[in-house]
Amino acid sequence: MFKLALAAAAVTYVSAQSFVSDPLVDKIIPYTAIPYQVDQHTADRGPQSGYNICNSTTENQDSMCQTGFMNHIDDFCIFAPPNPNTTIGDSEGEEVAWCTKKGHGSRLIPEGALQGIQVVQSPGYIQIVGFIDQTKLNVADGDFGGELDSGGQDGRGNPIGGLVYSNAFPSNNGNNGSYQQSRHWTYFVGGNFFCAKACDDTQPNAEALCEHIYDRIGCAFNAPNTAQNGTFEYCKGDDMTPVGRYVTNGVTMTFTQPPEGVSVSVPYVATPAPSSQCTTFASAALYTDLASVGVSGSPAGSAATGTASAGSGSSGASSTKSGSSPAQTGSSNSAGTAMGLSLVSGFVGVIFSVFAFAA
Ligand SMILES: *[C@@H]1O[C@H](CO)[C@@H](O)[C@H](O)[C@H]1NC(C)=O
Ligand SMILES: *[C@@H]1O[C@H](CO)[C@@H](O)[C@H](O)[C@H]1NC(C)=O
Ligand SMILES: *[C@@H]1O[C@H](CO)[C@@H](O)[C@H](O)[C@H]1NC(C)=O
Ligand SMILES: *[C@@H]1O[C@H](CO)[C@@H](O)[C@H](O)[C@H]1NC(C)=O
Repeated sequence: MFKLALAAAAVTYVSAQSFVSDPLVDKIIPYTAIPYQVDQHTADRGPQSGYNICNSTTENQDSMCQTGFMNHIDDFCIFAPPNPNTTIGDSEGEEVAWCTKKGHGSRLIPEGALQGIQVVQSPGYIQIVGFIDQTKLNVADGDFGGELDSGGQDGRGNPIGGLVYSNAFPSNNGNNGSYQQSRHWTYFVGGNFFCAKACDDTQPNAEALCEHIYDRIGCAFNAPNTAQNGTFEYCKGDDMTPVGRYVTNGVTMTFTQPPEGVSVSVPYVATPAPSSQCTTFASAALYTDLASVGVSGSPAGSAATGTASAGSGSSGASSTKSGSSPAQTGSSNSAGTAMGLSLVSGFVGVIFSVFAFAA
């Protein structure tokens, strides 16, 4: 069933570019052996626009670093356009890493861009979801965005050659300096929101938990969450039901996204997996490396003035499962319309309904 779904969706992708014989998801690249550019192709979509070796000389607001991290609530990167006022759809192959912390050889996320963040660490993945001012990350105002992932229409990834590492997986044994590659990852960026998931390839379900074929449907479907604007929290969670799978009358079904031009009608509402042990933080205390707005190439280290970080315990324990946050309730109630929207042109997908309720 699942393989069928994959094959059916692949048909819509392959029409534009031929699928490479050495797809990005198959490239096992230890953190200590990252090449200058992981993608060597030049045909079709052209060469990789940036690079994967990122270091102190590439750490500035013009960086073309395409190696990202998903480590912790205070240490992650978002892939976003290199040039201002760009839609995700127009730049999907060329996105660069914007990170919360120095040390990754990337651009730094500007102050004020992060408005609410929820991190959920599950056995199979780390998921980071948040409310953003996307214009500070070069995403055009009003762009509903789309999906970036290690698959892509030709297997080269979006961005082409994008790599993602994490020190949050069990393999790192609590060592922040030990990074494991995630070969299955997805980001959705747009609508002043983003969701990112990096799956642990040492776990059995990485491909299904980070499935990338539902590019027209958005965060509520691909990364169900209870993120709230203005809240910064880190939680432990269970794995979600693999993306696209649902149970009806006791039978597990796999939803297949229809081809471009056919409106999407999702037959179920994806619910966030149970989470617990949530810790909330004062945002100013979390992010000490953010770039000053408008000062290109000279990030300010003094952005954070706050000192307290409030560890307020297990607030997410029951609210997650019941979906009682405003955002999740909202998206559930309106799923029929929000998820069925088809204002799609080409790659650009529908992000989702949370915004309407959070605003
Ligand atoms: C730093 O990164 C750049 C860009 O990838 C690369 O050209 C350069 O060789 C790197 N420097 C060192 C010392 O590794
Ligand atoms: C962004 O680009 C659009 C389309 O080119 C243009 O109409 C708009 O004025 C630009 N916005 C900014 C802030 O530069
Ligand atoms: C590891 O990183 C986390 C989050 O960035 C931080 O809270 C923790 O102090 C770090 N641990 C060590 C040993 O540096
Ligand atoms: C999130 O909160 C900020 C600050 O209050 C606000 O400017 C922004 O519009 C909110 N974002 C959404 C998507 O509602």
